[in-house]
Amino acid sequence: MSFEPKSFIQEQVESLRHEVGEGVAINALSGGVDSAVCAVLGHRALGEKFINCMVDNALMREGEPQRIVEVFKDMGIVVRLIDARREFLSALGGVGDPEEKRKAITSTFYKDVFGKCVREAGAKYLVHGTILTDIEETVAGIKRQHNILSQLGIDPSEAYGYRVIEPLKTLRKDSVREVAFALGLPDEIARRIPFPGPALAARIVGEVTEDRLDIVRKATAIVEDELSGSGAFQYLAVLLEDCATGIRDNKREFGKIIVVRCIESVDAREATASRLPWDKLESICSKIVSIPGVNRCLYDLTPKPPATVEYV
Ligand code: XMP
Repeated sequence: MSFEPKSFIQEQVESLRHEVGEGVAINALSGGVDSAVCAVLGHRALGEKFINCMVDNALMREGEPQRIVEVFKDMGIVVRLIDARREFLSALGGVGDPEEKRKAITSTFYKDVFGKCVREAGAKYLVHGTILTDIEETVAGIKRQHNILSQLGIDPSEAYGYRVIEPLKTLRKDSVREVAFALGLPDEIARRIPFPGPALAARIVGEVTEDRLDIVRKATAIVEDELSGSGAFQYLAVLLEDCATGIRDNKREFGKIIVVRCIESVDAREATASRLPWDKLESICSKIVSIPGVNRCLYDLTPKPPATVEYV
């Protein structure tokens, strides 16, 4: 049976009204299509009783938090921008292990930053954009997606003081995009390439610091600008922990390494590297190595499996 976005929207709006009742629910936007769809569903279902937040966790892309607030303002939906950069950077200080990084982000987000917003708003429900693929991969032990709680045996009411509602948990990305269009979300959101919950922290191997975020953010902007017309499923830049010897202005330089990844996929469960034109790769490379401190740019050919899409 084919998927009917309009009936899905109606069902979810009714179910949100029923579940939240007279209470208040809250949603955190990440910039991705999943949480954006939740924002509009929640707004339709609950109006003023639905609070949308955008947490600036210091890990977002260039100008992203402000842009999201603007897009929703144009749709008549108010988004509160919460500056939590300091909290996240201090929780991530000195943490290099990938799982520990994800745990630090989960805990800072749900317990510290969000816990406070929820208490202040008197919200008893968190509406969350978890999709089916997130659940499957977490349950299979492939990766701890930062937004999976109950499937990991964590009870959010006990751990954090609120209940989680996941309206998209039966959908994959392609259906979420259909719902996004049906809800009238603009192309820049509905067609937005996937971006992980742990944001740029998933693209820094080793410690996340402001300086390292700055480098990966610049590289991400270059890659997104160069590949936005490629039609690829996803494209990204990763900063490695290793350095490599290079030469600049006739001086030896031990510089940073950026990996560019561009993939073809249907739903991110499997992926192959895009066969990008050589000229495009050269153009990306020359821009990436003009970022101060970066002297090498590599293109990743590895399919998933055995690689994953992100590096952390
Ligand atoms: P991996 O790296 O697991 O990524 O092959 C598969 C897809 O999921 C995205 N991704 C995430 N999305 N929270 C999310 O919402 C996460 O923790 C997360 N980790 C990976 C990734 O960008 C890719 O599209």
